[in-house]
Amino acid sequence: MILGAATTALSPAISFSVKTPSKQLNGSVVVCSASKHASNKALTGVVFEPFEEVKKELMLVPAVPHLSLARHKYSNDSESAINDQINVEYNLSYVYHAMFAYFDRDNVALKGLARFFRESSAEEREQAEKFMEYQNKRGGKVKLQSIIMPLSEFDDAEKGDALHAMELALSLQKLTNEKLHHVHKVAVKNNDAQMADFVQNRYLRQQVKVIKRMSEYVAQLRRVGKGHGVWHFDEMLLNEGAAA
Ligand SMILES: [Fe+2]
Repeated sequence: MILGAATTALSPAISFSVKTPSKQLNGSVVVCSASKHASNKALTGVVFEPFEEVKKELMLVPAVPHLSLARHKYSNDSESAINDQINVEYNLSYVYHAMFAYFDRDNVALKGLARFFRESSAEEREQAEKFMEYQNKRGGKVKLQSIIMPLSEFDDAEKGDALHAMELALSLQKLTNEKLHHVHKVAVKNNDAQMADFVQNRYLRQQVKVIKRMSEYVAQLRRVGKGHGVWHFDEMLLNEGAAA
């Protein structure tokens, strides 16, 4: 509760008032305010009036508990684009997990590919989680959607399983890249520079590297054929040992 107020003229154009509460808890509590309206003379050169301009913002702070306090300049379109991308990342993670399970079978036993796809699956899930954290950071709400049951067989009479799976993985990464570009476009359309920056720096750069790496694997698998060469490729992956 503010009872007392003292006003001091600092210049002919501006006044400065110090208001003191009648009861001060734990030491001193002083509320200061400056206003050009305290003077009759026009104030020139002012580009920002914090206490006047903040009034509109203050009215927008939600009073109900189910609304985010942090949400600012975050459109509904952006919120739903982030939720869709979480679903894309989860789907990819699920497909890679199915590939891991296939290559880990006793009658397939390509340990390098099994590990590659297991780590890739974990990485996609981590990317989904990063988008979830981002959604919360911006004051949106994470809504998880259904994911499709992936294939469980990856053998192909003509190409063999390793090449077939890697081509599929490469195509999925290109599709993900397209989806990420869409999220970036939504951010730009809604003048959300921060979100555009997040998608660009955290995902789009990485996506280009992943596509290059998987393309090389596809090229190598095309060279080595379906048999003995795949075993060597698998050994190489085991030695490299990192996810896409
Ligand atoms: Fe991803």
